[in-house]
Amino acid sequence: MKIAKQKGTRDIFFDDMNIWQYVEKKIREIANNYHLNEIRTPVFEATELFARGVGEETDVVNKEMYTFLDKGGRSITLRPELTAGIVRSYIENGFDSYISPVKFWYMANMYRYEKMQKGRFREFTQFGVEIFGSNSYLADLESIAISYNLYQNLGLADKITLSINSIGCSKCRGEYIEKLKKYIRPHLDNMCETCKIRFDKNPLRILDCKEEKCNLILQNAPMITDNLCKECSDDFENLKSGLTKMSIPFVIDKKIVRGLDYYNKTVYEYIANDFKIATGGGGRYDTLVEMLGGKHTPAVGFGIGLDRIIMLLKEYHLINDINQKTDIYFVLLNEEAHLNYLGLISKLRNKGVNVELDICNKSFKAQLKYADKINCNYVCIIGEDEVKNNIAILKNMATGEQVNVDLNVQSIINSIK
Ligand code: HAM
Repeated sequence: MKIAKQKGTRDIFFDDMNIWQYVEKKIREIANNYHLNEIRTPVFEATELFARGVGEETDVVNKEMYTFLDKGGRSITLRPELTAGIVRSYIENGFDSYISPVKFWYMANMYRYEKMQKGRFREFTQFGVEIFGSNSYLADLESIAISYNLYQNLGLADKITLSINSIGCSKCRGEYIEKLKKYIRPHLDNMCETCKIRFDKNPLRILDCKEEKCNLILQNAPMITDNLCKECSDDFENLKSGLTKMSIPFVIDKKIVRGLDYYNKTVYEYIANDFKIATGGGGRYDTLVEMLGGKHTPAVGFGIGLDRIIMLLKEYHLINDINQKTDIYFVLLNEEAHLNYLGLISKLRNKGVNVELDICNKSFKAQLKYADKINCNYVCIIGEDEVKNNIAILKNMATGEQVNVDLNVQSIINSIK
């Protein structure tokens, strides 16, 4: 019996793989331009890291984690996100002794046991950035600039909307939550079951509710942005004018609180305009390092869902001409010719020329037919006459033009320039 892949997972290959590599290349360019350090951390971590770091009451921890006991009886979880893991690594490796800011980027798979929808998978990939050691709004600005830059470089900037909000610091948020609860309490019986649970456990998340009856009640609820302390309010104003100066368009969405518990002050999300799904999100998390046992370290970061970015690139046909082309396909008379010219082919490959040749014992005719079908720039034909004279026919597949070339590395390279 055949074994199928697991729900919510995919095999990525051929044309899709080319798109992934194209996006990954853009990401590496951006990471380099902003002088970020790549970090790779384990796929699995102690379950407690996410329970404490992301928050026991979040959907991610409560409902969506892939958690199991390993053979040593430890509770292990496949990472549902990477911020907590990088904070663990930051503390464990003593990065707080490095000069601030310490800036990391990553591109990695995450695992969430979620209901399948368009753009929602159980195994998905994020490009993320975490910046440690700055409590200035300038770091928030930098993190937004990096993420926005990716959308720009992929031609997606006008397909998404950046929504920002501030959820305040522990002081002003505490006061605000009391105000919010006071407003909601008389309406609670008319709200959905999730809101009722969140009222005690995580009242801020009530603002996130998508149920219409709850939304109607929340229309007149006090909003955190109107209840910020002076420091949080100044930071938010500075961030807004910084974004304007950088010509990064944004809207303020007072209801964004984010689904992970570690945030404070700035939070933001990118929403795909035509699909109404989040393609990225992030914000500040000044208490997480301390909560996970490190020294107080302000931090900010974001994660962008690459599966969704790639979905957008395909939907908007923004991925023309990224298929990898073979430079030269060699059509060889027979096995003897094949073996004779392998050394030459190997030298060409070492010089960076992308060469393909038959390895299935196809006939000379079948190789010629195959060369016509594949996406290659040149075909190098070595038939009976050519073997005798140690030359080849080099055919330019775009123009159809054919020339004779000597069978040495330099003359072939010169002829395909
Ligand atoms: P998040 O909002 O949970 O944030 O995820 C970030 C992005 O990952 C989402 O906007 C979405 O594009 C993508 N994503 C999430 N779940 C799925 C899924 N099931 N299938 C496909 N894509 C998905 C975080 O994870 C934070 N760690 C981001 C962050 C970094 N905040 C600060 N630093």
